[in-house]
Amino acid sequence: MSLATRHILLVVGGGIAAYKALDLIRRLRERGAVVTAVMTAAAAEFVTPLSVGALTGSRVYHDLFDREDEQDVGHIRLARGADAVVVAPATADRMAKAAAGFADDLAGAILLATRAPVLMAPAMNPAMWSHPATRRNLDILSGDGVRFVGPRAGEMAEAGEAGLGRMAEPLEIVAALEALFASAGGPLAGRHVVVTSGPTHEPIDPVRYIANRSSGRQGHAIAAALAGLGARVTLVSGPVALPDPTGVDVRHVETARDMLAAVEAALPADAAVFVAAVADWTVSGASERKLKKTGEGPPSLALVENPDILKTIGHAANRPRLVVGFAAETNDVIEHAQAKLKAKGADLIVANDVSGAVMGGAYNTVHLLSADGIEPWPEMSKTAVAGRLAERIAALIGAPVDAGDVGR
Ligand code: CTP
Repeated sequence: MSLATRHILLVVGGGIAAYKALDLIRRLRERGAVVTAVMTAAAAEFVTPLSVGALTGSRVYHDLFDREDEQDVGHIRLARGADAVVVAPATADRMAKAAAGFADDLAGAILLATRAPVLMAPAMNPAMWSHPATRRNLDILSGDGVRFVGPRAGEMAEAGEAGLGRMAEPLEIVAALEALFASAGGPLAGRHVVVTSGPTHEPIDPVRYIANRSSGRQGHAIAAALAGLGARVTLVSGPVALPDPTGVDVRHVETARDMLAAVEAALPADAAVFVAAVADWTVSGASERKLKKTGEGPPSLALVENPDILKTIGHAANRPRLVVGFAAETNDVIEHAQAKLKAKGADLIVANDVSGAVMGGAYNTVHLLSADGIEPWPEMSKTAVAGRLAERIAALIGAPVDAGDVGR
């Protein structure tokens, strides 16, 4: 969807990535957006208001108590006039302030006062991003309807540091914003859906793990399709080689236990779709050190059962209204899938025959099972399966009534 004539209120946070906000302004204006910038006090230490103003072509706002600003526009009017608020870079401090609802500066007051969708592009040191306090703030903000783009993995400004924490590139932020506008009027606007995708890795020792052939393509496509219909999507993904889908809030996990914890943290939700190929077993007492050859033959691994995420959530007190599972089978597909529908407390099961090249491939042949019966779907691409399933989910969990929720 076009950004032309959209009013974007850009909050530039105080981080080294603030320089990328300059390019972001250019990219937004190239697409016809009207950009108004608000700089935090710290942002002005990294880029000058003069450069920001030269690029937006309009006045830059920064002080909440600037008498002229308050008479002229006022933070409420500034917040209400925006079609979307973008925070780039969103520092750990800004996320904490926003999660707690602080309004002690103009950026904070705007984030509280706005009714427009908010998109944050976090940027911080990887240790700060993975800190439990930032994780908590991320959960709170996601729960409040804030959308996120990035951060990405890569080199940090600090010499020699790398990891998750780099701000998304300006064009990715533009794409996330376009996706946000495109989905705003969709049938799932105002709905929250949790999706699991990919394999899990169960460690044997620090360098080895048990995994499976799941590529995450089907789960990621479903997450993208749901977001395309306007849902706020939390995608809990095991290790995959796929990029994060645009406009989707992605939580990266490794083991089945981590995946369950991330799903539980993402609730409440209106629907949950369990596409991940979760390892059924994990290694009991995985070694802290790399296992070495001892000359006395191979080590024996003792396996213990992993939690069944679908079954746990399917029977949980805060169960989403609609729970969808997948059943990957190589034989007696329908019978096994029917048994799973009951045992796991699911409303729908997408049964697929994985005896061929489904895992890792682009095509899928599925049957949709519910209490009402069995529906065979023709062979189609995983993207088409995703689109059709998303449409079905939209039909089942309906559209919101409150237009104020749109896009959030
Ligand atoms: N699932 C899950 N947690 C597990 C195992 C499976 O959430 N520990 C979910 C999958 O995401 C899928 C459904 O359960 O939606 C069925 O997965 P599948 O591997 O087909 O079934 P299993 O329960 O593992 O049964 P089995 O391996 O015996 O066929």
